Amino acid sequence: MVDVGISDVAIYVPPFYLPHEELARARGVPVEKYHQGLGNFRMAVIPNWEDAVTMAANAALQLLEKTGTGPEEIQQLVVSTESGVDHSKPVASFVQGLLNIGSRCRVYEIKHACYGGTAGIVHSMDWVSRNHSADKKALVIMTDIARYAFGSPGEPTQGAGAVALLVERSPTLLSMDTSLNGVFSKDVFDFWRPTGHRVPIVDGKYSIACYLMALEGATSHFRSNCGIGKGRLLEEIDYLIYHMPYTNMAKKAHRHLIDIEYEDASPDEREQLFEETFARMVEPGLLGVREVGNIYTGSVYMGLVSLLETEGERVAGKHIGVFSYGSGCGAEFFVCKVKKDIRRIVRGLRFKEQLEKRKPVTFERYVQTYSKSWEEILYHPGEVEGFKNEFTRFVFVGFKDHKRQYL
Ligand code: HMG
Repeated sequence: MVDVGISDVAIYVPPFYLPHEELARARGVPVEKYHQGLGNFRMAVIPNWEDAVTMAANAALQLLEKTGTGPEEIQQLVVSTESGVDHSKPVASFVQGLLNIGSRCRVYEIKHACYGGTAGIVHSMDWVSRNHSADKKALVIMTDIARYAFGSPGEPTQGAGAVALLVERSPTLLSMDTSLNGVFSKDVFDFWRPTGHRVPIVDGKYSIACYLMALEGATSHFRSNCGIGKGRLLEEIDYLIYHMPYTNMAKKAHRHLIDIEYEDASPDEREQLFEETFARMVEPGLLGVREVGNIYTGSVYMGLVSLLETEGERVAGKHIGVFSYGSGCGAEFFVCKVKKDIRRIVRGLRFKEQLEKRKPVTFERYVQTYSKSWEEILYHPGEVEGFKNEFTRFVFVGFKDHKRQYL
């Protein structure tokens, strides 16, 4: 069997965040609801000179530079997003231009809410593995701005960011056999954004129920594909990363998995199993969601970056279970095997450093930034230069002849 997988990963998050203490004070909500009830502490705020395109290009440039990959080597460029900037022209084409990726490359955008990134990865792995030429490389990027209405229950779960992955043969980070993946999909209205709406419509509690239904469906499909009996799934994996719209969704998901996997255990036994396995398998992947919030398509892969950043080389040789969920709804559960030598990759992540370099904004600044209409958004060089950090290489500078301009 051809060894296909991911060779490296890079993340980009905007250089600003709103502390949840500020949001709680302004909304008259006890901060414990955000810190303990949702498990979130800071949310990324994207300035007006950044968008889904710049975040994608900023993540991808880091990836190309640290892997020494030339733009001409990329033969498939997939961008997954639900924060597209144009109904026709894909975010992927803007990224192709900014990164100077050549013309002999398949370039497209995928949308399926937060699940779109996984669809792009699985499709790219299948494309790489069935190709006769061994040097095929795919660049898969997930980029999103998670926005909700001001004052709505979803507001404290907002965030923004992009994750870029390099998919190829003989990968240096992790391998995956996509033929074993468990899938689940169903036509539901749990979270959706009709064309023209700037923020989604959300049936919050129902979305949690749909997520848990999809977890059950995708894991049971995975078990049957692998011939693993009920109650044996956790024995196959060392770490678990769930799609994380907010931190405690991972807790709800893991509790549900324990309940369905160990139906015959007593409530006390199940609680003990939950506590022990959550701390060991899930907790190391929570850094990003606590600090950044939901980044939709990239959320579960920000969990992967967090796990690698937190555990470092201890992840080498281990099996990671991944549950990807997107509203609407589509889901996939898969297991990847981490390579033995990941020292260079772990050192190159610099995620904590990026988080530490961010600056807080006030509640007023957050409201001002997110209240602007698209037409008002223009480049103010002075404003940008003072706040850009070394990770922000591309910025959006407004429109010229209805064409988005980037520098
Ligand atoms: P809410 O109205 O804030 O819910 O909405 P709540 O009142 O039930 O409070 C949340 C938790 O805080 C509860 O704990 C409360 O008890 C607790 P739980 O029962 O969940 O364990 N709480 C407190 N704790 C300590 N001190 C206090 C306190 N007060 C309350 N004083 C909801 C929560 C998640 C529904 C909302 O934020 C929302 O609508 N979010 C957006 C939708 C979402 O994230 N759904 C998750 C699954 S769907 C998904 O993941 C897809 C998505 O990423 C989109 C995509 O695919 O593109 C969203």
